[in-house]
Amino acid sequence: MSDPTDTPPDRGRTVHGEAANAGHRVLAPDDAEVEAYLEQALNAPPPTRVATEAPEHPETVAVLDFGSQFAQLIARRVRELNVYSELLPHDTPMAELERRGVRAVILSGGPSSVYDTDAPRADPALWSGRIPVLGICYGLQLMALDLGGEVVPSAKREYGPATVRLTDADGLFDGLAGEQPVWMSHGDSILRPPEGFRATAQTDSTPYAGLADPGRNLYGIQFHPEVVHTPIGRDVLRNFVVGIAGVRPNWTASNLVETTVAEVRERVGAGHVICALSGGVDSAVAATLVHRAIGDQLTCIYVDHGLMRKRESELLRVTFARDLGMKLVMVDARERFLRRLADVEDPEEKRRIIGDEFIRVFEEEATKLGQIDFLVQGTLYPDVIESTTAETKTAQKIKTHHNVGGLPADLRFQLIEPLRYLFKDEVRRVGMELGLPEAMVQRQPFPGPGLAIRIIGEVTGERLDTLREADWIVIDEIKAAGLYRSLWQSFAILTPVRSVGVMGDGRTYANVVAIRAVTSDDGMTADWARLPYEVLAKISSRIVNEVPGVNRVVYDISSKPPATIEWE
Ligand code: XMP
Repeated sequence: MSDPTDTPPDRGRTVHGEAANAGHRVLAPDDAEVEAYLEQALNAPPPTRVATEAPEHPETVAVLDFGSQFAQLIARRVRELNVYSELLPHDTPMAELERRGVRAVILSGGPSSVYDTDAPRADPALWSGRIPVLGICYGLQLMALDLGGEVVPSAKREYGPATVRLTDADGLFDGLAGEQPVWMSHGDSILRPPEGFRATAQTDSTPYAGLADPGRNLYGIQFHPEVVHTPIGRDVLRNFVVGIAGVRPNWTASNLVETTVAEVRERVGAGHVICALSGGVDSAVAATLVHRAIGDQLTCIYVDHGLMRKRESELLRVTFARDLGMKLVMVDARERFLRRLADVEDPEEKRRIIGDEFIRVFEEEATKLGQIDFLVQGTLYPDVIESTTAETKTAQKIKTHHNVGGLPADLRFQLIEPLRYLFKDEVRRVGMELGLPEAMVQRQPFPGPGLAIRIIGEVTGERLDTLREADWIVIDEIKAAGLYRSLWQSFAILTPVRSVGVMGDGRTYANVVAIRAVTSDDGMTADWARLPYEVLAKISSRIVNEVPGVNRVVYDISSKPPATIEWE
């Protein structure tokens, strides 16, 4: 075993040129960080990422991405109708769509004007009518222009809520009528529709808020059906996908489990597979799916670095080893991590050390297992699309460290990514379908370096115990108040501040604990949660009464930006 105090070896670079074992702050939803450590751990031949096809879904709806911030949302909305939907580049050729068995195509909106020189285009074969097409916003304008209509910059830009009058009760608007509130966001408008099209909806500023040419299977709407501000959006999408295109809504969590299990079984054959469990939902669901497929050919490794929250390691053991009967190697590495973290106060240094030590432990354990052919990763669909679409490059840059694009140039195993076609909420549904405990499936995001970055200053065993107890009370009370799932994260921080207090007749000089609770959609921005005073009062009094060494509790009322969610 290597001396834990020596400088970490150079482990090469990721495909992005960053030091493979660099400590970094990442926007990691959930347990992605552990995978980053793993990816960086493995020195050997280049990665074999098999260009896996989407699971066998004869009935796919393709969403062609013209750069709209809502493109992913369209795919999610379609999936909520129990129909499989994929996001594909805007210029995907018709032949490729047919090869994939696509049954309906939705063209997303986008920030361009159809007259921009580099405006994104679609394959003109799409207008053939062989597959039904629904153009949304930019998608509609492109369809209109390509087919000989006229599009002009609107005198009045429409952005935000609007009212449409539906003038055509068939097809897209089947069962819907009259005036409906919708969400608009466009600069250009249609001045003259192409031949063969009829108007199906209008607003005060455009007579062509909806167009249809049912003979050619072509439909378009100027408003956004995918956002919640368009209450009829779901019906419109259902009318298109199920009514017009005739797709059967049979893409459910249980079907998905079944197909994935069959695929994994076939791919792995007699091979051996490992998976790192982190306590997060992605790795838990991925491992459980793979275990269903191949049983004991899967070994899970859980590195207990001692930085987890109270009862998490135990929940993991009970769930995977006892209840599911998985081969689980639980490595008690708590001492090793504490030794290396001794005297370290700098947050980035903590991250680097934890990442590096994780790699060492994992490598040691993996080596003991002998021949390994596959590594399971909980890569999700947004990570996969973000690595391929130009529009999201900036956001992606921050995330690549720990996901698809961040693989080191020298990964030893083939990857199995059973969740690579799923969104997070779908992963949760699959997790429930597989019978995983709710505490695991609905867990709030938790950073890879764990409690180490919530103890400001040096991490010691004693301080970890203090924080773990305080954190437990926060979660317990937040859950009891029914607030857990409405918050992005809620947790305790152990500050380096001590303050004076009184307890009984005596004066105390003890730790200050801070509470952080935030609402957020993606962790990129966040607001502090307006927790009810009674909940805060209960948390505070329980912490000072039940956690030795703490005599004061404060609430963090900073938003992000300028503050971050974590304190380190
Ligand atoms: P910040 O503190 O930057 O956090 O506002 C945004 C999100 O990222 C998580 N986070 C991390 N996750 N390793 C991780 O896996 C890290 O080093 C790390 N730092 C922050 C944080 O919990 C929040 O969800």
